[in-house]
This record gives sequence, structure tokens and C-alpha cells, in this order.
Amino acid sequence: MSALNKNEITVFAPATVANVVCGFDILGFALDGLFDKMLIRKTNKKGVTIINKDDYNLPTQPDKNVIGAALLALLEAVPENIGFIVESTKIIKPGSGIGSSAASAAGAVVGANHLLNNRFSNQELVEFALCGEAVASGSKHADNIAPCIYGGITLIRSTTPLDIISIPSPTLYVTIVHPQIEVKTSEARQILKKQILLKDAIIQWGNIAGLIAGLMKSDYDLIGRSLVDVIVEPVRSILIPHFDEIKQKSMEAGALGGGISGSGPSVFFLSKDEKTAKTIEKAISNVYKNINIDFNTHVTTISNRGVKVQ
Ligand code: HSE
Repeated sequence: MSALNKNEITVFAPATVANVVCGFDILGFALDGLFDKMLIRKTNKKGVTIINKDDYNLPTQPDKNVIGAALLALLEAVPENIGFIVESTKIIKPGSGIGSSAASAAGAVVGANHLLNNRFSNQELVEFALCGEAVASGSKHADNIAPCIYGGITLIRSTTPLDIISIPSPTLYVTIVHPQIEVKTSEARQILKKQILLKDAIIQWGNIAGLIAGLMKSDYDLIGRSLVDVIVEPVRSILIPHFDEIKQKSMEAGALGGGISGSGPSVFFLSKDEKTAKTIEKAISNVYKNINIDFNTHVTTISNRGVKVQ
């Protein structure tokens, strides 16, 4: 049977890296090979039922659950008397900084949309999924959700109204290191300054423009020069164990650049080839092995595909 007219669907929603150093709240990309899984069933009873098939003890009350809140928003735009039962198996650890809540919200709405014969556009799906993201972080930022749905690298030029642009890029390898500590996005947002200096804004918008130009021109040197954040990283880096040392070792190992993934605690570094990405993985691992903190690592690429359904 084709995806159309099915009553049940399996969804794979990728992990994502938000901010991409200088693009706070406006830039993100999807990761290959790291995803959450969900089974979504359409029912003829209005409402959402969440069944957690993992050990994270996430709330099952729909309005307190990321999947639930996203699907409730979608159902408000559906006139028929239908609902969804979702069996969620999270692989992406909540609070890891690689878009765990976005994968739940985006996966749920993309899957539900397939069960509704794809009546909503990707942009509408982002709007619904943002209601889920707001449950997790208290803020409607789309820099994890957009790449999770669209795949690749996405620029959120504006959230009101939503304006999402897919940015082409050359091949980029990504080294992710996740120290096993918890950083709550809501708290990592609260510590940020509410006002910034014009001189810092000028540096930051030069870098974000340079990064977008570098990606579109496949200019690795320009990408590397532009991966600089003078606004958010200096504040948030105190949340990441040994951040400065990790960054220095990664750059010495050949990274183009990198920094905090989303609001952390994961960090990410970009490189041109797999060998360099693995050298960076080893360099960071050596730093963390000397600290009493568990960590795990991934070497992967940017995925051109967003949420997959089958
Ligand atoms: N842009 C968001 C932040 C991503 O850094 O707070 C994390 O959800």
C-alpha cells in the first residue's frame, strides 16, 4: 500500500544542530544516521494519545508533551472527527542539544500529515511543530524544527511570518560530542543578555552573511572564517565542561569551526573530510577522558533528508 490512504505509519525524525555558531535561532541542519522513531495511528476519535516506548518518563498528557502539543495544533486545523495514537521511541536523548524535542514535534506532524494525504505544506507543519517546541523550551524557535522537516541546512529568515530558506552546501562532516550532563534550553535562554552592543551585532551579521555565502559558494575557508559567535557562545560556554580546551583541540585537529550545538551540552565541529572529523572526535575524547564526565560521540554528515516515513 502506498503512504496515501494508510491508517498507520512509521516515522524516523532526524537529530539536528541549531544555531550553527553565529546563527542563533535562525540557522540549523539535519544530521544523518541519528533519529527518533514513532508509530502513528489515525483514529476516528478526536484527541491525541501518547504511549512512550522508552525509559525517559516524558509526560503523556498531550498538552504537556511535545508530540501531543504539536498534534493538537494540527488537529485544530482539521475539520474531521479524527485523532492520533503515537507510540514514541526516543533515541535522541532529551536535553542533549541535538534537537530531541524538535524531532518529536516534527516527526509527529509530518507523520500525521501523511495519514491526511499530505494536505498541509512544510511551512504549515513547521507552525504546528513550533507549538510542541514551545512546550519543551518555552520559546517558538524553528532552527531545529525547520531542518528536521526540510532536511539539509535551513535559514529561518523570519518567524512572523515564517520564511524558511534551504541553503545548499558542499559536503561537510560533523563531529558531535555529547557530555552526559543536562542543560535545559529554557535555562540556557534565560542567561542570555537581552541587549547587545552594536559593535558585536556588526561582527555577528558579518559572520552569518559570510557563512551563508561560504555555504552557497562551497568556499570552505569562508565557512571556517565565519564560524564565529561573539554574542551567545561567550555567555553559554560556561555551561559546557572544558569548552575552550575542546574548541582549541578541535581547531588544532583541523576543524573548519564549531561550537555549542543548540543550547548544549553537545558540541559540534565541521570538517571537510571524514578523517579530520574522526581526528577531532579523538581529540575531544582525550580531553573528556581526563574529566569525570561520561560522554558519547558521533561522526556523521549533514543529511539532505528531513523526516522519513514508511
Ligand atoms: N536556538 C535555540 C537556542 C536552539 O539556542 O536556544 C535550542 O533549542
